[in-house]
Amino acid sequence: MTRIPRIPLNDGTSIPQLGFGVCLIDPAETERIVSVALEAGYRHIDTAAIYGNEEGVGRAIAASGIPRDEIYVTTKLWNDRHGDADAALAGSLDRLGLDHVDLYLIHWPCPAQDRYVEAWRSLIELRERGLTASIGVSNFLPTHLERLEMATPVTPAVNQIELHPFFQPWKDIDTARAHGTKVQAWAPLGQGKNGLLSQPELVDAAVAHGVSPAPVVLRWHLQNGIIVFPKSQTPARIRENIDIFDFELTDAEMSAITSLDEGEDGRVGSHPLDAGPA
Ligand SMILES: NC(=O)c1ccc[n+]([C@@H]2O[C@H](COP(=O)([O-])OP(=O)(O)OC[C@H]3O[C@@H](n4cnc5c(N)ncnc54)[C@H](OP(=O)(O)O)[C@@H]3O)[C@@H](O)[C@H]2O)c1
Repeated sequence: MTRIPRIPLNDGTSIPQLGFGVCLIDPAETERIVSVALEAGYRHIDTAAIYGNEEGVGRAIAASGIPRDEIYVTTKLWNDRHGDADAALAGSLDRLGLDHVDLYLIHWPCPAQDRYVEAWRSLIELRERGLTASIGVSNFLPTHLERLEMATPVTPAVNQIELHPFFQPWKDIDTARAHGTKVQAWAPLGQGKNGLLSQPELVDAAVAHGVSPAPVVLRWHLQNGIIVFPKSQTPARIRENIDIFDFELTDAEMSAITSLDEGEDGRVGSHPLDAGPA
């Protein structure tokens, strides 16, 4: 079984650095696909209430026979539940068939509705009640993180943000890290869009290491200390995306991939200030 490193979090727990994302996996297919991932060796699943597939994730976990404490489960509070996190997490746990998750995130800050501090206070309570082991945020800019820090005594364990070779917000990453918050990459493969996986810098490294470009991108994240959970509904890709611990990118390969950054133009998803209430 592949040995996946764990990253320590600021609350004394730790998280497997590589996991499996299930955004846009059809709810009817989720149990089957997550079962393939668990069979391949993944032990960290990233879902969200809004993905509509928590039930399938829960069924795959139950059917796997793998002890609960060997699987790390993340889910997220959707934008229209910032005032209602308690009931929202209860609903997620019910759909997952679990008595707690390992990580619960505020999915987007939604500054226009201005309830994310209230939501964060609720997450602190949910953690105290043992309904989630860790709490964090997603798509928070430094200004949102600073506001949580001023208003409450708890710093988010993670911030889950868009991050891939075409979009590398290093300043925000460094700010989060300086405050003890670990960074998770969503769309670690840039969702396979805009020709990312056919860039010569990636193809050359892939040829040099006898792998394909997606594993090279995932290695680049790991070597940068980032937590990743690529999504795939293709069994061969699910397996190749976890087979990334037997090679190491050179400094020159790392720099070549870093040079692909396109700044704001490289985003494939919404800007944190634009994603509003559901
Ligand atoms: N917090 C947030 O706001 C947020 C937003 C977006 C995503 N996320 C999380 O992050 C996870 C990953 O991000 P994502 O799903 O947006 O995108 P992603 O993982 O960057 O890319 C997924 C795409 O890449 C393809 N792919 C996967 N492995 C491949 C390989 N080895 N070779 C070639 N193509 C490959 C997949 O195709 P196939 O499926 O067809 O194989 C799919 O089209 C999500 O599932 C979700 O858990 C969070």
